[in-house]
Amino acid sequence: MNDEKFVEVKNLKKVYDNGHEAIKNVSFSVKKGDLVCLLGPSGCGKTTILNMLAGLLNPTSGDILFDGKSVVNTEPKDRQIGYVFQNYALYPHMTVLQNVMFPLTVGKHKIAKDKAKAIAEKYMKTTQIMELADQKPGQLSGGQQQRVAIARALVQQPKILLMDEPLSNLDARLRLKIREEIRSLVKEVGITTLFVTHDQEEALSIGDKIILFNNGVIQQDDLGQNFYLEPNNYFVANFVGNPVIDNFKVKVADGKIKASDFEISVSDLDQNRFKRELKDGEYVLSVRPENILPNEDGHVSAHVDDVELIGRERILKFTHDGVQARSLVNLETPIKPNDDIKLKMRLDRVFIFTPEGERVY
Ligand SMILES: Nc1ncnc2c1ncn2[C@@H]1O[C@H](COP(=O)(O)OP(=O)(O)OP(=O)(O)O)[C@@H](O)[C@H]1O
Ligand SMILES: [Mg+2]
Repeated sequence: MNDEKFVEVKNLKKVYDNGHEAIKNVSFSVKKGDLVCLLGPSGCGKTTILNMLAGLLNPTSGDILFDGKSVVNTEPKDRQIGYVFQNYALYPHMTVLQNVMFPLTVGKHKIAKDKAKAIAEKYMKTTQIMELADQKPGQLSGGQQQRVAIARALVQQPKILLMDEPLSNLDARLRLKIREEIRSLVKEVGITTLFVTHDQEEALSIGDKIILFNNGVIQQDDLGQNFYLEPNNYFVANFVGNPVIDNFKVKVADGKIKASDFEISVSDLDQNRFKRELKDGEYVLSVRPENILPNEDGHVSAHVDDVELIGRERILKFTHDGVQARSLVNLETPIKPNDDIKLKMRLDRVFIFTPEGERVY
């Protein structure tokens, strides 16, 4: 038993035939029964990793272990994996029921038709597609096809479920509903799940933890809230957060952090938050829009370019030093476009990054 590291990826590397290094020395693990989101921009290597976990693609080097045993030489069909592809990949000529039953009726472990039907129906009930049993995929909506693909992955009673952007074609409301269904389903059955998405909100809402990739390298492997509160580096701070984080160019000298029109004493920062020494030089000072707010005693002068309503809050957009920045305020704040205001930052919530993106504070 290896519950803490039920899925373990060690120093995994993938160089494609054309020489492109898609995955560079990646290591992570997933706890048994957890739903982990793999997050990252297009091309960062998410599908490449799932394909290696599924055995559809051979790693260039490194190891993949399920429950403590290496599977790199195990055939895909013997890995006890369910894979929901991004495009559903349903068989168009089969009915919904036949699609869901299919994995149980082929291969070495095939079972009798009536037994297969009973198992298929159990998962079709859970995914609420019983009434669609006799329809063909072409007659279904995206969300319905999605649930067929999920039921088909689940009938095999996989130990591990891989889902590649399974909700990308759904409208916002359906997407919300189905992701809740997926989460409660895999939790109920206790399936260890790797869920690929490039939607940070989705990752935050359903993931037990999130692994964020960029260019084939893990940027942060952590609980969702830490991507906001304790980003590892500049990339993470800027990838996660909506509205996006504000970044100000600053220079550090003589114990001061200086921007074009404001100055902060290094001694006013929370000394416990330093990750490394703040040497003199150039940096980026970043702050989330909810932590830089209108205040008459504020350090930052701003001219409001625009005010955008986003439901229960408003975004004040302003230009600072030629760069657009944002402040997130409540509806009562009486600020209008073209107002000249002062903004104050919460110094215990700002971040400081080196020009290379390493976090200093
Ligand atoms: N067969 C291949 N040969 C060469 N390069 C490839 C191949 N497949 C993928 N790549 C490249 O590897 C990188 C990672 O691709 P991958 O499909 O894993 O990205 P992804 O994170 O799933 O992106 P998306 O969010 O767009 O699906 C990309 O730069 C891609 O162009
Ligand atoms: Mg992909």
